[in-house]
Amino acid sequence: EEQIKTCCLWMIELEHVIKKDNEYVRWDAITEMDEHNRPIHTFQVCNVMEPNQNNWLRSNWISRQAAQKVYVELRFTLRDCNSIPWVSGTCKETFNLFYHETDEAHGVKFRPAQYTKIDTIAADESFTQMDLGDRILKLNTEVREVGPINRKGFYLAFQDIGACIALVSVRVYYKKCPFTLRNLASFPDTVPRVDSSSLVEVRGACVDHAEERDTPKLFCGADGDWLVPLGRCVCSVGYEEIDACRPGFYKAYAGNIKCSKCPPHSFSYGEASAICRCEKGFFRAEKDPPTMACTRPPSRPRNLMFNLNDTCLLLEWSPPSDTGGRRDLTYNVQCKRCGPEPDRCQQCEDELRFLPGPLGLTNATVTVVDFSAHANYTFEIESLNGVSDMSSFPRPVAIITVSPSLVGALKKDWASPNSIALSWQQPEQTTLPIIDYEVKYYEKVLKYSAYDSKAPSVIVSGLKPATWYVFSVRTRTAAGYSSYSPKYEYETTGDSSNMASDQGQVLVIVTAAVGGFTLLVILTLFLLITGSKLHKKQTARTPLHCIDYSLCLSTVPYPGIKTYVDPDTYEDPTQAVHEFTKEIDPSRIRIERVIGAGEFGEVCSGRLRTPGKKEIAVAIKTLKGGYVERQRWDFLREASIMGQFDHPNIIRLEGVVTKSRPVMIVVEYMENGSLDSFLRQHDGHFTVIQLVGMLRGIASGMKYLSDMGYVHRDLAARNILVNSNLVCKVSDFGLSRVLEDDPEAAYTTTGGKIPIRWTAPEAISYRKFSSASDAWSYGIVMWEVMSYGERPYWEMSNQDVILSIEEGYRLPAPMGCPVALHQLMLHCWQKERNHRPKFTDIVSFLDKLIRNPSTVLKNFFLPESPGEEMDYPMFISVGDWLDSIKMSQYKSNFMAAGYNTLDSVARMSIEDVRRIGVELIGHQRRIISSIQTLHLQLLHEHEKGFHV
Ligand code: ADE
Repeated sequence: EEQIKTCCLWMIELEHVIKKDNEYVRWDAITEMDEHNRPIHTFQVCNVMEPNQNNWLRSNWISRQAAQKVYVELRFTLRDCNSIPWVSGTCKETFNLFYHETDEAHGVKFRPAQYTKIDTIAADESFTQMDLGDRILKLNTEVREVGPINRKGFYLAFQDIGACIALVSVRVYYKKCPFTLRNLASFPDTVPRVDSSSLVEVRGACVDHAEERDTPKLFCGADGDWLVPLGRCVCSVGYEEIDACRPGFYKAYAGNIKCSKCPPHSFSYGEASAICRCEKGFFRAEKDPPTMACTRPPSRPRNLMFNLNDTCLLLEWSPPSDTGGRRDLTYNVQCKRCGPEPDRCQQCEDELRFLPGPLGLTNATVTVVDFSAHANYTFEIESLNGVSDMSSFPRPVAIITVSPSLVGALKKDWASPNSIALSWQQPEQTTLPIIDYEVKYYEKVLKYSAYDSKAPSVIVSGLKPATWYVFSVRTRTAAGYSSYSPKYEYETTGDSSNMASDQGQVLVIVTAAVGGFTLLVILTLFLLITGSKLHKKQTARTPLHCIDYSLCLSTVPYPGIKTYVDPDTYEDPTQAVHEFTKEIDPSRIRIERVIGAGEFGEVCSGRLRTPGKKEIAVAIKTLKGGYVERQRWDFLREASIMGQFDHPNIIRLEGVVTKSRPVMIVVEYMENGSLDSFLRQHDGHFTVIQLVGMLRGIASGMKYLSDMGYVHRDLAARNILVNSNLVCKVSDFGLSRVLEDDPEAAYTTTGGKIPIRWTAPEAISYRKFSSASDAWSYGIVMWEVMSYGERPYWEMSNQDVILSIEEGYRLPAPMGCPVALHQLMLHCWQKERNHRPKFTDIVSFLDKLIRNPSTVLKNFFLPESPGEEMDYPMFISVGDWLDSIKMSQYKSNFMAAGYNTLDSVARMSIEDVRRIGVELIGHQRRIISSIQTLHLQLLHEHEKGFHV
């Protein structure tokens, strides 16, 4: 059989069943011509005139091979009894198909009692005398399943009980999942399980030059389809998908990646290279990955300068112009002390103290402490990187010589109580021209100041009278500062009594500065603390927005409530997945069956084991192979959103599998599937209060989402899941992806994809999505629920829906829907979005309704106009109710019969209604339909502890 998914076991080769008295032999082997005059070999029987026919035809023995379940396809023609005269009692239009399992291939006698009936076979089309004349072949095809078969083979048998049949062909086959290659693993032909709902797990074997990553597995489904690929093999080192890497390319790791071009400054000559070799003068450090370019030692540091004071020398430089292509740049400092003859120098690192040290510096600066500049010191700074030790070339260095102080003693030219004029000897010879002099002075016991002077003299004013000062000077050249001259101490003249006001001023300035600083510290701490509390999540990530904490504060919807963080604001989506989801080891997941197909791959049901916890049922969404990074993120976005929620009416994320293939999202299992199809399957099965309970759950989930600042955008019954306790949970998160995925979403004129029937007008027209637009969608969900999954606006086109909403049209109350609930829907569908109820209002309204079932009696009031303030009365009388359904004429009948409370009315049957004197059938119907809508009996059950 060339068809891959079925295996032929046997084609027609039937035997006459021979029994001693030919009792069973009435089928004839006849060759006929079809309408194209081609011969067809058939077995025929046509004893329609004689009663009690029992004619058998048996196949030869058929080996079942690997099959457990086999399929028998019969092609036959059958004569219409009505078209044969005088056979009404004897002519039949069916025949029977039997089988018998046995291990023996030969010599088995035919005993009808050993045969098990498979089915009675009837024709879809039977032929008449006229068809025969016109040579029209009315061929029927019927397929039957046989099995499970446990013996080595079996016989098929055909029993005729008086029909006119021609058996044209019998095909016997079984289904298999055919040999396949998936993720570089081969999977053999596999026969599915007999139980069509369970899958066969098959382990794959890696192809040549590939190695196993996660155990490759596939599941064979009942129809011969391979499902749910897990694990994979990857290409070995030096190999890409089919071939060895070409010269100039390499592949250093096993994996399904392509061979890569050799990185810069490297090459490969041969084929199947695992690594590329470095060009001359370039190197690869021990820890450098093979993907990294080869690098070389850096050039010398630039702009080396020094800054010298009494005991401290600061050397500073700029990084080299060529880092060699690396980032692991460090510097070493070498010191040489030279005497008058420059070629007579000694190493001097040991004499000086370097901070942070002389070797392995990562910053382009070093401080030399305990430095006294009485000799010429030469410092050599070399730059190094991770490959400097591999090069045999001498290392280039930057050199600087630090000379002793160039300036001699200071001399006072003149002085007053507030100033002093000083001068000094200009240095005779300097290697670099002097830029200026720096004069340092300080009150001996107090403050420090400095002056810059171009000339070798300075007048320092603003001094305090009768105060001791210390002065010294140093030169500045392009290479830095020299050391300071010897100190010069001087006490200004005058009376110290007039110093008070000066000190007062200083005090004022100091206080203001300290006060300002304190304020700054308090403010900074405040912002940091409030910011970090409210935005712990934002601080932990790299947000693209919200750098300013004060901005972030204004985005928190309710202080104290956890805020939703949009995972799209992460520069690196993996970080969002990591932060909001738990990674699950795939060995803890057991996939049981495929329950659906999502946009990204199959959706399966299964079980999740967690150490120390009870195994739970889960739904598993898989991402099928061959995805690009964008699709992987679109898939995982939903998990990053769901992982932030924790609420009984929001679908719970158990975790994700991202470290092995296939990528999976694991969520709690919801036995009743999506709400729309669930309601359609159970049309009319629930009480109003059960439906209100479902709606309450959805509203509560939505309140939680809106409190967190999350806008769903695709709230619809199809996106609500229902569990075995009828608890409804909001699902399908993921913004843009959700809408891509939603078959209801249509493109608007502005290019967005929007589920028109569920979406608020402002969101359709100008994409104003908010919790208020979610409230509109919630109103539509209410309508879907109360109408048991009816399509909103029925078959109206999207365009007509938009136009009629614009004109003020709103969906009418579904049949049997209490007016109070329809009123709430209308409230959700207010054009002005600020007038729509908040989810918190909806939850408390529905809560009241559930707690006081008689409030549903609002049912019997005529609708108020949309937009009116909502005020739902909690109690009404039987009289009001009858007024509201325009049945006021029966008030006295109800009262006379003792039905004076709504609870007693709600228990009335149609007979009760008739008995109290409501005679017109139309009136009986109106009253009963109102009562049914109430479902007060069940409301009472609810009061007794019923819950949804
Ligand atoms: N289909 C999609 N998600 C599901 C879930 N969590 N439970 C049951 N069926 C689903």
